[in-house]
Amino acid sequence: MTDLFTPIQLGPLELPNRMVMAPMTRNRCPDTVPTDLTAEYYRQRATAGLIITEGAQVSEQGIGYPATPGIHTPEQVEGWRKVTDAVHAAGGRIFVQLWHCGRISHPDFHAGEPPVAPSAIKPAGQAFTYEGPKGFVTPRALETDEIPGIVDQYRHAAACAMEAGFDGVEIHAANGYLIDQFLRDRPNHRTDTYGGSIENRIRFLAEVAEAVCAEIGADRVGVRISPVNRFNDIEDSNPQALFNRVAERLGEIGVVYLHVVEVSMAGEPDASVDFTKLRRRFPGAYMANGGYTKARANATIAEGRADLVSFGVPFLSNPDLVRRLELDAPLNEPNPDTFYGGGAEGYTDYPTLEEVA
Ligand code: PHB
Repeated sequence: MTDLFTPIQLGPLELPNRMVMAPMTRNRCPDTVPTDLTAEYYRQRATAGLIITEGAQVSEQGIGYPATPGIHTPEQVEGWRKVTDAVHAAGGRIFVQLWHCGRISHPDFHAGEPPVAPSAIKPAGQAFTYEGPKGFVTPRALETDEIPGIVDQYRHAAACAMEAGFDGVEIHAANGYLIDQFLRDRPNHRTDTYGGSIENRIRFLAEVAEAVCAEIGADRVGVRISPVNRFNDIEDSNPQALFNRVAERLGEIGVVYLHVVEVSMAGEPDASVDFTKLRRRFPGAYMANGGYTKARANATIAEGRADLVSFGVPFLSNPDLVRRLELDAPLNEPNPDTFYGGGAEGYTDYPTLEEVA
């Protein structure tokens, strides 16, 4: 029977298993450049069927958090090259997540200027800056004629990803960041062709996906969405209709996988979206995410409701998560105090089974 440990073909890549390491922000890249420690962290997790990196900014404009990496300068490409070399030498496969935070940012990151967004609507909550939490500000609404330039930021970042040796990219369209801000009608009040109807709100994502696919090939491009996540003050009046069409449209464009966060940021389920409807509309691989256990992941794959399952925190605290689940071995406890920022502690020092023994 097909389960987590059954190999699968993903575009040109043969994955030895269906366990994906989900993207997780770790805030350990000083000056936005991945380091030797970043390479060691990902190398340790190379037995995953596929690794998706933490979000990497497609431009300076896209930054929203301290010490997050970018994927748009020669220095960043050089830093990521260490990561991809280490993962490949260990037998793994790795995609980089392309990220633009939009309004989930602060003027401190932009020489005092407000961040950009589809509309000038301030999100509730606080930004994380180098000086600690600060209230979000009202973003500047993008002019229609600025949008092609932002689409090009993603295209350029995808080209940088290939130069850095990645196997592909994941477009971050989830969790209330820029693309999600365009998708949903609460933060998007535009009256041009990028706002209003579902088709219009999807336009920015579709243009980004088309540009990235044209640059590196659709079989190396995945997209992540989070239809029921209200994190970052995001919401939509009809998420089922919106994300049905997102799934269909991305299928037309031909991206290789659709990565779906099926829970809220707090991990809660939400019946407002039936994910089987998205799965049915998307012809590529469906990657499920959100608090999956081995048993639930295996059942979901066996029933054909997903092709791949991604795991976040369990991969963070267990570099050898694939082996542990295979053996039904106990898992290391994650330490939330070391999730964001700092050095090796809570990053590269979680032991393997052998090291525990
Ligand atoms: C976070 O830093 O809290 C964060 C970043 C990216 C996400 C979600 C959360 O997609």
